[in-house]
Amino acid sequence: MVSGERVVVVTGASSGVGNACATFLAKKGEKVYGTCRNPSTFVRKADEFFEMLPMDITDKVSVEKAAERILGAEKRVDCLVCCAGSGLLGSIEDSSLEEAASIMDLDYLGTVRVIKAFLPSMREAGGARIVIVNGCEGAAPPPYQGFFAAAEGALVAFAESLRAEVLPFGIEVGVLELGPLRTSFVKNRVLAAGAGDRSPYRDGFESATGVLARDEAASLDPLLAAKAIYKALSAYSLPRRGRLGSLPRRALAWGRRWLPAAIYEFLSRQYYRQG
Ligand SMILES: NC(=O)c1ccc[n+]([C@@H]2O[C@H](COP(=O)([O-])OP(=O)(O)OC[C@H]3O[C@@H](n4cnc5c(N)ncnc54)[C@H](OP(=O)(O)O)[C@@H]3O)[C@@H](O)[C@H]2O)c1
Repeated sequence: MVSGERVVVVTGASSGVGNACATFLAKKGEKVYGTCRNPSTFVRKADEFFEMLPMDITDKVSVEKAAERILGAEKRVDCLVCCAGSGLLGSIEDSSLEEAASIMDLDYLGTVRVIKAFLPSMREAGGARIVIVNGCEGAAPPPYQGFFAAAEGALVAFAESLRAEVLPFGIEVGVLELGPLRTSFVKNRVLAAGAGDRSPYRDGFESATGVLARDEAASLDPLLAAKAIYKALSAYSLPRRGRLGSLPRRALAWGRRWLPAAIYEFLSRQYYRQG
């Protein structure tokens, strides 16, 4: 499908990467549907030309309703960009099972729900492109973000299986992994209820979150992610896995793949100032 004529759905379009992506793609002439939980509270800026629909990705009925509305109006979706999600900060011991299940339900299963709602129509149409916006944490799990990293890692594995299954139907699947980007991610990220002053993990947690705060202060403009997504959607074939973010985060992700585990883990501990 030629760029500028495509029907594109962007989840998480009220903020951050999803908002930058929906705005940028609409300016490029694509027919963009953004989604978020409550469009009535979304304050549209003058240059945000896309339509916004309600969709809570933790609710199957809400996801299916939005998909029905879009497919009813357009009969097809050419590109799906999954940006909706959040994070969870806290040690494994300080995070409750409920908090762990909740981030898995949002970041992993939420993305799965959305993809499953559009997949049959994409298969019947004979092709589409799906981009899953993920964190570098899936590729290099940092301390004190274990459950978030597990959800991100699950998405990478899911995307690989999905890619193999749907390629014969002309559907391409890619993952874009982000280092810190200047969005509301940090503000919206959940802090584990047990991660307080009394936690036995307090010192390590404070060291690691100090590094996160420093990285996040120097984070990148989400417009860069929007441009990377547009480039990927317009490329001859969709890149399988891209990475965008700070050099150390990308280096750690590279190191986990290519370095001996003991060396990678030493470097990761040094980077996150873990003793
Ligand atoms: N920014 C980073 O540095 C970073 C790093 C690692 C990973 N990521 C990942 O990148 C993606 C985009 O994050 P961002 O940086 O753009 O964060 P953001 O500014 O906080 O935006 C998150 C978006 O997700 C939507 N959302 C949250 N819960 C939802 C739900 N239950 N149903 C539907 N939509 C929901 C929000 O919309 P409403 O609240 O209006 O519904 C919002 O539009 C996320 O998946 C995040 O995990 C970002």
